[in-house]
Amino acid sequence: MRGGSRRARAERYAATAAARGLAIQYLIDTHTHADHFSATRHIARDLGAPVVMHRASPAPFVDLAVQDGDSLALGTLRLRVVHTPGHTADSMCLVLPDRVLTGDTLLLGSLGRTDLPTGNAEALWDSLHEHLFALDPALLVHPGHNYKSAPPTTLAEQRATNPRLAVPDRAAFVAEMSARNLELPRHVTEALRTNASGGKPVSQLIHDAARAIAFMSIGELRRRVEERRSEVAIVDVREADAFAASHVPGAIHIPRGQLELLVDRHFPDPATRVLTYCEFGKISTLAAATLRQMGFASAIALDGGFRDWVAAGAPVESGAKT
Ligand SMILES: [Fe+2]
Repeated sequence: MRGGSRRARAERYAATAAARGLAIQYLIDTHTHADHFSATRHIARDLGAPVVMHRASPAPFVDLAVQDGDSLALGTLRLRVVHTPGHTADSMCLVLPDRVLTGDTLLLGSLGRTDLPTGNAEALWDSLHEHLFALDPALLVHPGHNYKSAPPTTLAEQRATNPRLAVPDRAAFVAEMSARNLELPRHVTEALRTNASGGKPVSQLIHDAARAIAFMSIGELRRRVEERRSEVAIVDVREADAFAASHVPGAIHIPRGQLELLVDRHFPDPATRVLTYCEFGKISTLAAATLRQMGFASAIALDGGFRDWVAAGAPVESGAKT
């Protein structure tokens, strides 16, 4: 997520609250998300509010770890934590006087899936029947997702009408949950890695690298190649077969995976102006940022990838020379 839009989002949340005479006190993730990148820690930092998660969460950026039976104070209001493992091991619901925030444990007419890492259908059944449905049946259900903007219904209504609960017993429930055969969400491992570790998504790495380097346009490089001006050393960081098939005339080949190991051999003088390119313009951005860190202070990346170079009708050559 980019810094600007994130801050704008934090400000929008703060403004939405302020318009109602409220202030944001906590950023609570009901569980570790596998299907999207959580902005909780960034927004919490922007707003100066603590991140709250269940203590089973592996995330190192949690300021306030809570567990079953704990309450958070919001003025005179109390938010009571009910640990409801099942969708994930660290899932929790939050009980208020008239409603319950159910995260992905109980959705309106559905349930959170149990087939992603730390998910467990048996645990979800137990959480629902022993904990959630033990609460006041008149509580309104406010789930973590409500894609169809369905009006909130009560726990009692969900218990009676939720099609996922229309099974005779726990064993049938577990069988049905494992038969759902849902598609794996995109980026599942990357989202889990960043949400559980506080590390950066790949898009953020590339964004950060892009701010640490300068770029050369395809038009500018093309002019230089066509005029045979040699102020830049062009480095193709793709794999060997891609380079052999076709590359920018005059480019040498150093695959990204060996860049740090081989670059000194090719360029003993760190004042050399090295330009990197790859297929799409992303790996070359990371590569140029690495070169800058290594002391190649004028390293730059092509603004675009070899794919764009070819599409622009710029000249290419082939062969495996390096
Ligand atoms: Fe979820």
